[in-house]
Amino acid sequence: MSETRVDAVRSRVVPACACSTRNQGVIPANGEMTRISRRGIHFWLSMSDLLLNSCRMNTLNGKHLLLGVTGGIAAYKSAELIRQLRSQGALVRVVMTAGAQAFITPLTLQALSGNPVHTGLLDDQAEAAMGHITLARWADALLIAPATADFIARLTQGRADDLLSAVALACEAPVAIAPAMNRAMWENPATRLNITALRSRGIHVFGPAPGEQACGETGPGRLLEPDELVTAVAGLFETLALSGRRVLVTAGPTREAIDPVRYLSNHSSGRMGFAVAQAAVEAGAGVVLVSGPVSLETPPRVKRIDVVSAADMQRAVLERVADCDIFIAVAAVADYRPEQTAGHKLKKTAGQLTLTLECNPDILAGVAALPNAPFTVGFAAETEAVADNARAKRASKAIDMIAANQVGAGRGFDAEDNALHVIWAGGERELPLAGKTKLARQLVALIAERFNDSGNKVIRFNAKDSA
Ligand code: PMT
Repeated sequence: MSETRVDAVRSRVVPACACSTRNQGVIPANGEMTRISRRGIHFWLSMSDLLLNSCRMNTLNGKHLLLGVTGGIAAYKSAELIRQLRSQGALVRVVMTAGAQAFITPLTLQALSGNPVHTGLLDDQAEAAMGHITLARWADALLIAPATADFIARLTQGRADDLLSAVALACEAPVAIAPAMNRAMWENPATRLNITALRSRGIHVFGPAPGEQACGETGPGRLLEPDELVTAVAGLFETLALSGRRVLVTAGPTREAIDPVRYLSNHSSGRMGFAVAQAAVEAGAGVVLVSGPVSLETPPRVKRIDVVSAADMQRAVLERVADCDIFIAVAAVADYRPEQTAGHKLKKTAGQLTLTLECNPDILAGVAALPNAPFTVGFAAETEAVADNARAKRASKAIDMIAANQVGAGRGFDAEDNALHVIWAGGERELPLAGKTKLARQLVALIAERFNDSGNKVIRFNAKDSA
């Protein structure tokens, strides 16, 4: 087996031992390894490799994947690729070049992706609904597979004269190409230079694999197999910026009981906190999520603890905070609770009912005040003077970082999108309006940057930051 192919697949995707039939005897026969065979090539995976690989697959659940298909014989593989991406829970939209449509029909890919296929740049209706900018914004990642030599050259030049090249130019999410072409075209210095340029711009290159080619030659230039591409795409979401770190996240609302059937609460859906937990896992952290009552699925690889009231949430947090490096308080904790909770359902009376409320503990401020406090990140839900109020909140709670969001009138709470103004000692950054998944990833990257820059030493608030 060619070394090129092992590197292309293994280094990016699976931390596996791989060997040819020729030297498979070097793999230790310790019973812990499982042999996977692909086209006569054998990969030896330990149980932990298999587990990591299946975890990476989970990473695709709910992700928006934009698949660009260009005009090569390998375009037929995109049908199986879409099927496999969807079976991992990814939402797939397809953009085809004119050349791709000569090899496989948009109708086939539409049926498999469950979405209309996008083909034209200058299509009035598409531009009004899902035009090139909307498609680029929709994507959590763009994969171009197969990517022909011509498309790679056009991508390198930054052309925008067809839909796929325009989308690629506008796309701020990770972009990957899976080249497929004749081996001489792949080895040509022009293609080599293009690939080097694309890599230097942060574009990921998956493959190609060596082997027999449609033109009858043998060498590097084959599109990776769909399962290899699925694993490689899942790897795009693993940043490892928080590798080995332990992160504790709170999410959702709390409910403060008035009587056995009534409570005080708020409109938090938990989406923002769950997205933060998921982004932290994708960054390589071990994540515990303490959640108020929400109807969301637990993100893969997140340990979830369900709570109801602020007191429950505080207890759950304090039990685990000693084991965490970073605490991110996204929950909308009720500031007040009824002073007394009736043991029976309160009867309706003709007159007014007066409830006396008492203050709930401030979970975040309590964690920040601990002697060995973790790096603490709070959220600030504000209806006006967002940044000023958030600066004051960071100061009063003595936390390392605060992410402020405008709430009310359909914003923040229970919305699909959000925007954040993030503030820390000596710095601020705007994270503009985006889906909560994408936004959470940006926030976690920023948290990792600040946490790692601090040499993991917690930088506490000090009075001069409040100016
Ligand atoms: O759940 P979603 O529908 O996705 O909505 C997301 C969100 C709007 C709830 C989220 O983005 C957000 O702003 N969360 C914080 C809401 C909030 O309670 O903000 P606050 O400004 O009242 O509190 C400031 C910080 O102190 C927060 O980190 C909060 O978790 C924490 N806090 C507040 C009160 C309390 N008793 N204990 C706390 O720990």
